[in-house]
Amino acid sequence: MSSDNKVFGKEWADNLRATNVEKLRTKLSEVLGERTSFTLEIGCGHGHWLAAYAKANPDEFCLGIDLITGRIAKSLRKQALQSIKNISFLKAEATEVLDALTPAHKTEKVFILYPDPWPKRRHHKNRFLCAENLSRLAKASTSDAKLYFRTDDADYFDWTVRELKTHPDWQICGEDTWPFETPTFFEELTKVKRDVIAQKVS
Ligand SMILES: C[S@@+](CC[C@H](N)C(=O)[O-])C[C@H]1O[C@@H](n2cnc3c(N)ncnc32)[C@H](O)[C@@H]1O
Repeated sequence: MSSDNKVFGKEWADNLRATNVEKLRTKLSEVLGERTSFTLEIGCGHGHWLAAYAKANPDEFCLGIDLITGRIAKSLRKQALQSIKNISFLKAEATEVLDALTPAHKTEKVFILYPDPWPKRRHHKNRFLCAENLSRLAKASTSDAKLYFRTDDADYFDWTVRELKTHPDWQICGEDTWPFETPTFFEELTKVKRDVIAQKVS
């Protein structure tokens, strides 16, 4: 690819991202309405963990997001079948959602359960919990927000703990217990769970 094409490609990608963020801002403001804070699950898959969580926590409004249209369609069917009022699902990319949130709507709890582990070293840059996204999450969160991370992957777990320990906006909570248990699809598959909970440093 020539350098002209590279510049054009980057400009095109930046414009597309800006358009997506703008559309999401409108959508999020419709979905969240007057609620000032909410619970977010990033990479909710078919939504069954969040549906069970929302039923057990009727005072929290829960939003599940995933990149894959079919998974969100399944999540929405689950919600309709179970008539859960305090939940919504969106097909959206997580960093775009975080950039689209305004100070009127902040995340109070964020769950990231069994994210793609990107095991090869050259793919580590794709792991979601990097310093840049921890800053994004902090900016989109209330001052007392908590981040709940669970994985089966030992290397991704150690990586996340290291990222959290060196990030100025988050502090690992040593003694907190996991707030709700029902296995996710990937937990059923792997039967392994490694948890870390972090609190926003206000
Ligand atoms: C390994 S699956 C885990 C699904 C579910 N949390 C579970 O434990 O069964 C990871 C999910 O994250 C979604 N995902 C990956 N990157 C994402 C991103 N940047 N934004 C939103 N969803 C993402 C994928 O589409 C996939 O459904």
